[in-house]
Amino acid sequence: MPKRNLPRTMPSAVQEVSISLGERSYTIAIGGGLLADPTSYGGLPKASAALIVSNTTVAPLYAQGLRDALAPHYAAVHEVLLPDGEEHKTWQTLQAIFDTLLERECDRKTVLFALGGGVVGDMTGFAAACYMRGVPFVQVPTTLLSQVDSSVGGKTGINHPLGKNMVGAFYQPQRVVCDLDVLRTLPAREFSAGLAEVIKYGPIADMQFFEWLEQNMDALMAQQSGALAHAVRRSCEIKAAVVGQDERESGLRAILNFGHTFGHAIEAGMGYGAWLHGEGVGAGMVMAAELSCRLKLVDPAFVARLTALIRRAGLPTRAPVLDGADNAGRYLQLMRVDKKSEAGEIRFVLIDGPGQAVVRSAPDADVRAVIDTCCGGN
Ligand code: NAD
Ligand code: GLY
Repeated sequence: MPKRNLPRTMPSAVQEVSISLGERSYTIAIGGGLLADPTSYGGLPKASAALIVSNTTVAPLYAQGLRDALAPHYAAVHEVLLPDGEEHKTWQTLQAIFDTLLERECDRKTVLFALGGGVVGDMTGFAAACYMRGVPFVQVPTTLLSQVDSSVGGKTGINHPLGKNMVGAFYQPQRVVCDLDVLRTLPAREFSAGLAEVIKYGPIADMQFFEWLEQNMDALMAQQSGALAHAVRRSCEIKAAVVGQDERESGLRAILNFGHTFGHAIEAGMGYGAWLHGEGVGAGMVMAAELSCRLKLVDPAFVARLTALIRRAGLPTRAPVLDGADNAGRYLQLMRVDKKSEAGEIRFVLIDGPGQAVVRSAPDADVRAVIDTCCGGN
């Protein structure tokens, strides 16, 4: 995969976003050079040991910097490296984290540090929730997607062959440290996947941000540091506000899954890892917008506008055909496993006028028509 080769520029200042969850409140620090700075990790729960959980791609780039930054805070800094890829977000990989914790005789105060993208972050958080019934953990997200979404809000877990993220726990980190500099080594395809989760915040919550994205997509694609800092900060602010009101998704939080019902079906149907999560969300947002349009909640001009922005972010806007014989049937079968489903009825995040989301079911005939319209080609 081609690596971006862009000049290294430092954002001027560290920005902080707070997430208010009572005793589980924490801050998200956003800026340049944070990962290897020991001050990023001051004031965390006292412990004698830390465990860095990373993968075979990210660790060679950043584990030493994190290790050095943690050294002043912990007597021992251990490390476990996981295989890279969505297809490894499994029980077997989770077991490797527990193996290391037990082999190193880590006690119940040990702090886990998730160094990587959403896959590492989700698994580390779940391991932290389970090990000795709960140890502290810190998110050090290294992909755009994990900085704007997965590291924030405490959803942790693993995949099951029958459904994505089906096994997990709500478990909040102690802190999130978003170092914008590390995005410079991210492959372009992964950067685009992260933009899908940035774009989603516009239609569901903030059309001013959507307009800003339309004006600044070129700057973002060029990783201009000011644009990047704003996009990450605004995304985290919106997510923090939603999670602060509905931590365990009893209602409102489901809007963060705009595009995900179709997207998860694409990921599972293609085999985990074939389509990136953000790519599934990109095409999935187009499908959800088309469905909103069919149900007369938005007009076709909005669908066209959203589709154009997703395309400019380098993302697919057409979904794959999962089954040549009964494609819509296969999508419906996969989407029934979605966590938002109730009594077998699929519930979609739809746009009820730009900037406003609604979670509701839709007639099968309309869903089938959208799938027929949106699948094939790109
Ligand atoms: P990922 O974790 O697979 O990372 C993408 C790829 O980039 C991997 O190959 C990784 O090794 C590599 N990488 C990471 N940082 C790098 C860097 N700085 N330089 C070079 N390479 C780097 O994918 P992702 O898109 O970060 O996360 C997707 C996962 O997040 C999915 O499993 C999805 O379900 C989950 N997710 C969770 C939530 C949540 O709320 N918990 C929200 C959205 C997505
Ligand atoms: N990514 C969706 C959520 O955190 O709820």
